[in-house]
Amino acid sequence: MRHLSDLPPLDGKRVVVRCDLNVPLDNGRITDDGRIVASLATIRYLVDQGAKVVVISHLGRPDGKPEPEFSLAPVAERLGQLLNQEVFFASDTIGSEAQGAVKAMDRGAVVVLENLRFNSAETSKDPDERRQFATQLAEFGDFFVSDGFGVVHRKQASVYELAQLLPSAAGILIESELRVLNRLTSSPERPYAVVLGGSKVSDKLAVIDNLLPHVNKLLIGGGMLFTFLAAKGFKVGASLLESDQIETCREYLRRAEELGVKVILPTDILVANKFGADADSEVTSSTSIESSAFGAAAIGLDIGPQSAVTFAEEIVDSKTVFWNGPMGVFEFEKFAGGTRAVAEALTKVSGLSVVGGGDSAAAVRILGFEDNQFGHISTGGGASLEFLEGKSLPGIEVLG
Ligand code: 3PG
Ligand code: MG
Repeated sequence: MRHLSDLPPLDGKRVVVRCDLNVPLDNGRITDDGRIVASLATIRYLVDQGAKVVVISHLGRPDGKPEPEFSLAPVAERLGQLLNQEVFFASDTIGSEAQGAVKAMDRGAVVVLENLRFNSAETSKDPDERRQFATQLAEFGDFFVSDGFGVVHRKQASVYELAQLLPSAAGILIESELRVLNRLTSSPERPYAVVLGGSKVSDKLAVIDNLLPHVNKLLIGGGMLFTFLAAKGFKVGASLLESDQIETCREYLRRAEELGVKVILPTDILVANKFGADADSEVTSSTSIESSAFGAAAIGLDIGPQSAVTFAEEIVDSKTVFWNGPMGVFEFEKFAGGTRAVAEALTKVSGLSVVGGGDSAAAVRILGFEDNQFGHISTGGGASLEFLEGKSLPGIEVLG
């Protein structure tokens, strides 16, 4: 992989830097600026070199055309505050405003262009369309720095084709993400525990498949746990269930036993009468969810308090821990207990603790934890999972 230090002197040169500034927004207000903060090191480095820094990113999944709620304007403003320097925002991506802004840049200036995904070519399935769009982006730079770790698993114009059109290198965030994730795949300190949650078991099958031979413990929470309970023959009421994955889960349980991997499923569940912050709730045994007051209508929305204690003990007792996916519907305070207990336990791990991006990264910050309480908080949800699945990441491959 080519590094920043492989690039020639950047003084006065235009550098296009692909960041992942895809932050959660609530009515235009940024609720977790973690990805912006994580992008600062590379941007500052480029500014200090005297480069003219053209920042590009996507935000959300707009439908290939401008949609105001997905504008990067609030992100550009926050970036300016964090950099403590003026950041110019261009309200188009490759149009006349972007062109004028780049032309007017001085050494050390920073411009943010509008959301790449306002252009359908960015995510097009047609490589020619993507290349054409990337060619227009390439006109803004003498060099390209790829630093959007959260999006390196996507073969998209600004991630893949653009890197082929300009002399390019990986940025500081990508380097540090890979350094940590490599420690999870090459001789991790043991015991090694992986904690998986989140709603869909189908999102996690590949990672379970690839990690089973390498881990000592697999802890399962979140909506995905119910398919595992069903695989063990238990009824799960009205909880999330992917019936077509029951057999696969059963097979994983069998393989785990063969390999001597301890699979830890919750023994108790916090069930509710409906999905909502004000739902009635009750703790029930995970083996008899339908015997709760809500009967077959019971919806499991968090792991139970006894399981939270067990999960925490298993985590603290490990030397390497990777966690992806909330244990319950942490957005509702009533169902945040399991996720909070797991996050708290990760802060007490004496070895390496890694929070894998997306929802889990947002969860720990929203629940009030500080980044420095963890070994590493990845900025990539899908990207870090695909890395651990052993897949090749197009945005990394293309960097040589
Ligand atoms: C993410 O948040 O997962 C990354 O920013 C990539 O976005 P995407 O999943 O919409 O491609
Ligand atoms: Mg994603």
